[in-house]
Amino acid sequence: MVDLGSGDGRIVLAAHRCGLRPAVGYELNPWLVGLARLLAWRAGCARSICYRREDFWKVSLRDCYNVSVFLAPSVLPMLEKKLQAELPAGARVVSGRFPLPTWQPVTVVGEGLDRVWAYDIHGGLAGEAVSS
Ligand SMILES: C[S@@+](CC[C@H](N)C(=O)[O-])C[C@H]1O[C@@H](n2cnc3c(N)ncnc32)[C@H](O)[C@@H]1O
Repeated sequence: MVDLGSGDGRIVLAAHRCGLRPAVGYELNPWLVGLARLLAWRAGCARSICYRREDFWKVSLRDCYNVSVFLAPSVLPMLEKKLQAELPAGARVVSGRFPLPTWQPVTVVGEGLDRVWAYDIHGGLAGEAVSS
């Protein structure tokens, strides 16, 4: 799984604890990358979690089947295009706090600030997410 903008790494750590491997976080802020690595080390997961100080816009998502995002609404239209272009069929995207602007979620969980939207990428639609 990948978290695009992984912050202090809490989502990657939680996903790893749920059995998603490999678990990778992309984060621009070097302090947050350092903190995330420290927290993974303290949790005993440092060898199996990877935090990269990279711009996720420059990373290929072609092999990613679980993608997590919690990003400003202003970037979500552009993110939809990247996800549509790169994710394989069968991939799932989970967006926290803010929904992807045009995709139809398959599931919505939580309320208020804790709300998340899940989207599935279906085969034959070039990454277009549709409701099931
Ligand atoms: C709202 S925080 C979410 C942190 C974490 N995913 C969570 O849910 O707790 C968004 C993070 O995305 C990072 N970010 C924003 N644009 C980025 C980019 N282009 N590449 C990598 N990280 C980015 C920010 O530095 C920030 O830490």
